[in-house]
Amino acid sequence: MKQRILITTFAIVFLAGAASARADGVISDIMKKYHKAPQGEDPVCKQVSNGEGTSDQIAELLKSYEAMAKEKPEKGQPSSWEEKCAALIAAVKKLQKDPKDVSDYKKAVNCKACHDPHKG
Ligand code: HEC
Repeated sequence: MKQRILITTFAIVFLAGAASARADGVISDIMKKYHKAPQGEDPVCKQVSNGEGTSDQIAELLKSYEAMAKEKPEKGQPSSWEEKCAALIAAVKKLQKDPKDVSDYKKAVNCKACHDPHKG
């Protein structure tokens, strides 16, 4: 009986640990995939900011920013995070209508304006 409780406890601790580790990685994975420049290429966010985003890239960005909005960054006010993610989502939805309509996206994807308050 005691052993079973112990095993259950371990299982819960393990699962909780795995779940939080995965949640922590969402923002960081999106940053690496879409914001950071791969070698010798413009990152997706730059291509999109230049009005050269493909509809697939724009759709992926939308999904990613929606996922990001559900996360909590290590630092900063939740209300500020929600606002920044909402601005990104709204800007990308505009791009879906017109990929050249980049002014809101450029504003919303400002790295420093979000990293200063929210990057740990
Ligand atoms: C809406 C907010 C927001 C915007 C805009 C943003 N970032 Fe981030 N970024 C974050 C947060 C929060 C983290 C910390 C993620 C973590 O470690 O959990 C981060 C982390 C990163 C990382 C580290 C990833 C890693 O774990 O190795 C890179 C690289 C990065 N951002 C690049 C950029 C670039 C380049 C831009 C601008 C083109 C940008 N980000 C715009 C919020 C943002």
